[in-house]
Amino acid sequence: MLKLILFGGKGGVGKTTCASAAAVQLADAGMRTLLLSSDPAHSLSDCLEQEVGPEITPVDGVRGLWAVEISAEKLYLEFREEHGEEISRILETGTYLDAEDITGLLSLPIPGLDEVMGFKELVDLMEKEEYDLYVLDTAPTGHALRLLALPEVLDQWIRILARIRYKYQYVVSRLSGKQVREAADDFLFSMKRALKKVHALLRDPDRCEFVVVTAPEAMVIAETRRLTKALATFGIAVNHLIVNRVISSDHRDCLFCYERWQGQRGDLQEIEASFSAYTRFKILELPRQLRGVKMLRDLPCPPTLARRVPSAAR
Ligand SMILES: Nc1ncnc2c1ncn2[C@@H]1O[C@H](COP(=O)(O)OP(=O)(O)OP(=O)(O)O)[C@@H](O)[C@H]1O
Ligand SMILES: [Mg+2]
Repeated sequence: MLKLILFGGKGGVGKTTCASAAAVQLADAGMRTLLLSSDPAHSLSDCLEQEVGPEITPVDGVRGLWAVEISAEKLYLEFREEHGEEISRILETGTYLDAEDITGLLSLPIPGLDEVMGFKELVDLMEKEEYDLYVLDTAPTGHALRLLALPEVLDQWIRILARIRYKYQYVVSRLSGKQVREAADDFLFSMKRALKKVHALLRDPDRCEFVVVTAPEAMVIAETRRLTKALATFGIAVNHLIVNRVISSDHRDCLFCYERWQGQRGDLQEIEASFSAYTRFKILELPRQLRGVKMLRDLPCPPTLARRVPSAAR
């Protein structure tokens, strides 16, 4: 059963709009839905036209929809507060660093760790099973790919800590003849388990799908190619490609629209040829910005995506 839908693509293609529209419509269909954003430049508030912050809040006007903008930085600070002692203990017992060095080290940003915290938060939320469906609006491609690669990076980081810990335990048990197990070991174990869950969830095509948003524009297509390739390497399922901002052929009497329509034809053909493996779904460029629940409700969404969520709830 589909539990997590991620929306991603090049900057400005319409990720937030499409993710929000899907969340509104799936909530309308009876799914208790949580819409999340992991983009540090959050824009759910703008898109929904109501205040969304780091705490989960119900979305006005949509029964069964909640939204949250994950603050990776806040989560990292909380994590340091909660687990700083365990990490310090590991480093203190296994290295020549003293308490002062370690405090300094921990106050430095560990690259990527804050973002992993964002993902861990998502998994923790999913474990509570309060929602039927989670819709994640990701940051533009480069950032999103870094995020998806992070569980592996963090895994290596934990492996090093575990090795330090193991050496310490080995020495202690040789000297005292006793096995020691401390909070630091429980911490490493729990982090490892959380990472394993993130890894398994992202690679389970029954539970997780990445919807790629693109547009008929050469640079966007090039980036879409890189994104789909990277997702395939990670083993993350992609079924749908949303082709947003397509110019309608209805306005050929307007010279500006005609030129744009003509200009897109080659790009659209290229999209059809290059991404035939996915279900392509076109969304027209509207003459106005897409904002607010009412407009999001009217935005077409791939029907095959809606069919992947349990019909019993509808
Ligand atoms: N089909 C469309 N027609 C008209 N305007 C659109 C369409 N899709 C998106 N927009 C508008 O384009 C702007 C960018 O959309 P959106 O914020 O969803 O993109 P994004 O990919 O999330 O951007 P970012 O990479 O900055 O997060 C918004 O103002 C949105 O209302
Ligand atoms: Mg966005």
